[in-house]
Amino acid sequence: HLFIILAGCIIIKFPVCECEGISAERCLIWGPGLNPNPVLPVRYFFIQAVDSKGENLTLSPGKDTFKVKISSLDKKEGDASFLLRYRLYSTAPKGLRVEVLHQDAPVARSPYTIQGPVYHEYCDCPEPNSSVWQSIMQCPAGEPQILDFKAIPTVDLERLRQEVPQRFSARGGLIHYAIINNQLYRHTLGKYTDFKMFSDEMLLSLTRKVSLVPDVEFYINVGDWPLETRRADAVPILSWCGSTDTQDIVLPTYEVTHSTLETMRGVTNDLLSVQGNTGPVWANKTERAFFRGRDSREERLQLVSLSKENPELLDAGITGWFFFRDREKHVGKAPLVGFFEFFKYKYQVNMDGTVAAYRFPYLMLGNSLVLKQESQYYEHFYSHLKAGVHYVPVRRNLSDLLEKIKWAKENDAEAQQIARAGQAVARELLQPSRLYCYYYSVLHMYSERQTGQPTRHTDMELVPQPEDLTAACTCEHKGRQEENNMKDEL
Ligand SMILES: *[C@@H]1O[C@H](CO)[C@@H](O)[C@H](O)[C@H]1NC(C)=O
Ligand SMILES: *[C@@H]1O[C@H](CO)[C@@H](O)[C@H](O)[C@H]1NC(C)=O
Ligand SMILES: *[C@@H]1O[C@H](CO)[C@@H](O)[C@H](O)[C@H]1NC(C)=O
Ligand SMILES: *[C@@H]1O[C@H](CO)[C@@H](O)[C@H](O)[C@H]1NC(C)=O
Repeated sequence: HLFIILAGCIIIKFPVCECEGISAERCLIWGPGLNPNPVLPVRYFFIQAVDSKGENLTLSPGKDTFKVKISSLDKKEGDASFLLRYRLYSTAPKGLRVEVLHQDAPVARSPYTIQGPVYHEYCDCPEPNSSVWQSIMQCPAGEPQILDFKAIPTVDLERLRQEVPQRFSARGGLIHYAIINNQLYRHTLGKYTDFKMFSDEMLLSLTRKVSLVPDVEFYINVGDWPLETRRADAVPILSWCGSTDTQDIVLPTYEVTHSTLETMRGVTNDLLSVQGNTGPVWANKTERAFFRGRDSREERLQLVSLSKENPELLDAGITGWFFFRDREKHVGKAPLVGFFEFFKYKYQVNMDGTVAAYRFPYLMLGNSLVLKQESQYYEHFYSHLKAGVHYVPVRRNLSDLLEKIKWAKENDAEAQQIARAGQAVARELLQPSRLYCYYYSVLHMYSERQTGQPTRHTDMELVPQPEDLTAACTCEHKGRQEENNMKDEL
């Protein structure tokens, strides 16, 4: 069970020097994948290529520059398997050894020994002390978006149970959840509740990692639009998208959540792989703005007209027709383009779809300049971003779009600087560990405001943890807990 990993490392490119060869010794390696404690669906670490003068390499030295070997420290063979960037399918009780080589020479302080137990994603082994868990995950002290709770000083569970089904169950999809003793229970309301698979998946994953104490009871809206428009007496609804005219508490979108949880298990264009596929170096990107997408908002059609009139500035096309089918003949249908192809272009236009465009996090990671349509919709991490620093804002009616593209072409260094700052902040905010921290903070702040007893109601069913019978998972936290309980009983 030894796998040679060639394409799994994300090679970060920072512009600096005319480079000579790589110095294996001076290269830098860091990241949570070298630490046993943060349990994440995918473990990852970064390698910075450094030359013999100690300067960072400007250009990617190619995917075959580093060889990574990960092997289990446990003698027993054949029960652990690893994949690129690497996903553990079984717990390694004793630990792992990570070797990084460049032309057979050890890189940085390789080999790294990760002392076990190193748990895999499906191991149900919550850390009982949530402050210990938060410090392992290096959670930030606060998440500004969760100030959403300002509008909701208390959560009266009695009123919530009365009011939410009455007001919102006809609006699409609502899931009533309770987490009692770290077990997840739910009841679905409304017609379109399939997307509960994403909230189930995340909540189960979170409860495998940390004990949610105290218990909580809440509603997640799995439809597109945020719901609570009341200013006074707002009820807390957890939603995937926020807007300036609603009071919903924003969770990371199902797109970001699923991409994080299922990295290397069927999701191909995930947030980590985008970072290794950012297209040509800045100077070699095509100096035009790019857009491909469905017809989910009228301004997207307008964008195509602008593109036809100004092909030297903008390349925009609609790839799927549903909402404005009658205009397809006139506007035309563009062929689908692989997502990594987007980053051949220097500028990316981010236009709202039904709500916020959930591709925005990906565009921010791609080392292109993002031109973002102004919008009342936002995702959980937008409050960290500054217009003009991390992206270039464009008016909602696109009246200044061409002007902004011309500005970027004429101010290339500044445009590149914004692209790079945007990429850096997105990389920080969209790390898998931050996603877990964010979900935990929302539920924790919510629980602090609850009045009444969170309850498993008779209409709620248990949402079981996925079966994981084939993989070894001896949870030492549980062992400790049970020991303590026994002592208490004695
Ligand atoms: C080299 O890259 C590392 C990691 O990205 C960074 O921390 C460091 O500041 C860079 N050094 C220079 C001289 O740019
Ligand atoms: C959790 O851990 C922190 C830091 O180690 C400690 O101060 C605190 O008392 C612990 N809490 C519980 C409930 O054990
Ligand atoms: C950029 O393009 C030039 C001209 O096509 C080419 O020679 C050069 O190798 C490219 N640079 C990179 C880093 O791909
Ligand atoms: C576009 O919106 C701006 C305000 O954001 C307004 O001043 C301008 O008149 C609008 N242009 C068109 C063509 O509607």
